[in-house]
Amino acid sequence: MSSQNPPLSAGNNLDPWYYNYAERTAGLAASEVRALFAVASRPEVVSLAGGMPAVSALPQELVIDSMNRVMREQGSVALQYGSGQGVPALREQILDVMAMEGIRASADDVVVTTGSQHALELVTKLFIDPGDVVLAEGPSYVTAIVIFRSFQAETHHVAMDEHGMIPESLRENIARLKAAGKKIKFLYTIPSFQNPAGVTLSWERRLEILAIAKENGILVLEDNPYGLLHFDAPPPPALRSVEQDGVIYLGTFSKTLAPGFRVGWALAPHAIREKLILANEAAVLSPSSFSQLVISEYLDTIDWRAQVDRFRGVYRERKDAMIGALTEYLPNLKWTDPDGGFYVWLTLPPYLDSKQMLPRAVKELVAYTPGTAFYADGGGRNNIRLSFCYPTPEAIRVGIRRLQNVINGEIDLLETFSATGPLETVRDRNFSAPPPNLD
Ligand SMILES: Cc1ncc(COP(=O)(O)O)c(C=O)c1O
Repeated sequence: MSSQNPPLSAGNNLDPWYYNYAERTAGLAASEVRALFAVASRPEVVSLAGGMPAVSALPQELVIDSMNRVMREQGSVALQYGSGQGVPALREQILDVMAMEGIRASADDVVVTTGSQHALELVTKLFIDPGDVVLAEGPSYVTAIVIFRSFQAETHHVAMDEHGMIPESLRENIARLKAAGKKIKFLYTIPSFQNPAGVTLSWERRLEILAIAKENGILVLEDNPYGLLHFDAPPPPALRSVEQDGVIYLGTFSKTLAPGFRVGWALAPHAIREKLILANEAAVLSPSSFSQLVISEYLDTIDWRAQVDRFRGVYRERKDAMIGALTEYLPNLKWTDPDGGFYVWLTLPPYLDSKQMLPRAVKELVAYTPGTAFYADGGGRNNIRLSFCYPTPEAIRVGIRRLQNVINGEIDLLETFSATGPLETVRDRNFSAPPPNLD
């Protein structure tokens, strides 16, 4: 056997197939914080880490009624394989959902997928060869970065501020990467209530970013799971409402109904749509007929807009609890104050490392996601993503109070061992350094 393919006995004790994996799986290493999250799922820990929707705010009878009707009236269809593009009636209803964000489209161009996560993977599979570039906000959605890495793409981050992606940074990135001879395959963006930063791209910037993408022949991948979950005013219309040919739009029922159905969709330009359907069929044959029919029945018979309003009320209350607790317990830190969605992005003093601090936090019974998870390049060391979607307002307050203890304890430790004496601490000085990329 060649040295590239040693005998199995030369693998390792944990995994005898170690030398057999495809090269692209090198990007699939489990993060160091994964083991901690197993501990963090214990009930005594307040988890501000995950992005789980508050499904308890969805009356279960509504879903049970829809399920019963589907099984009674269309049971044999629901239990069968379906079309690789998705159930036609649901694709029509998805047009009504997208119309709420200003999108006009044809059901022919909608491809139903197994959550929008799968649409992300299919689009990446269609466009990325090893070494290609994906542009994404810095920070960006952790599992999108994982997908890009697993197809051996390079992810380069575009800076953001409180109005979302900065057009000038996009221009600079494109110029630099083109000069280096790189192929930029698409721009991945979450314009509304971004995961993880919680910020929303302004209308003026939406237009500017679309213009830059068009000028440079770059496809835009617009991921919009949170757009309908606004607290006051809706976000500006979707990018896809302005530009049809240069945008693939991703939507999902995970946040406005329930993630357990695993139903999302892509709205793609005509030419790309055909390839997406083929890729979907190759991957899953057809998305779940059962889930699609239940959602279709639900949309048809339930006042789903009222249910989305109910979710908004729940998340708004939780967001207010989080901002209130941050103001009370960590008044000198900086954080974003989202107008919708699930997340707040917190900036610590630059001498704190949020990943190193996580074991102490879990010991103090609070969990969060360290900022580095949301960068492909090691950024975000002194940032934290806090999710307010799942815990109750009371638990959020307890969690933030515990986080205050954790941060103060970490500062005490550093001061004790610091040769330079007291640090500029969050306790006695207004701390105002900008976070990486997100000022
Ligand atoms: C930005 C973003 N995109 C995609 C997804 C995947 O959602 P789903 O596959 O449940 O539709 C999520 C889930 O949290 C997300 O935050």
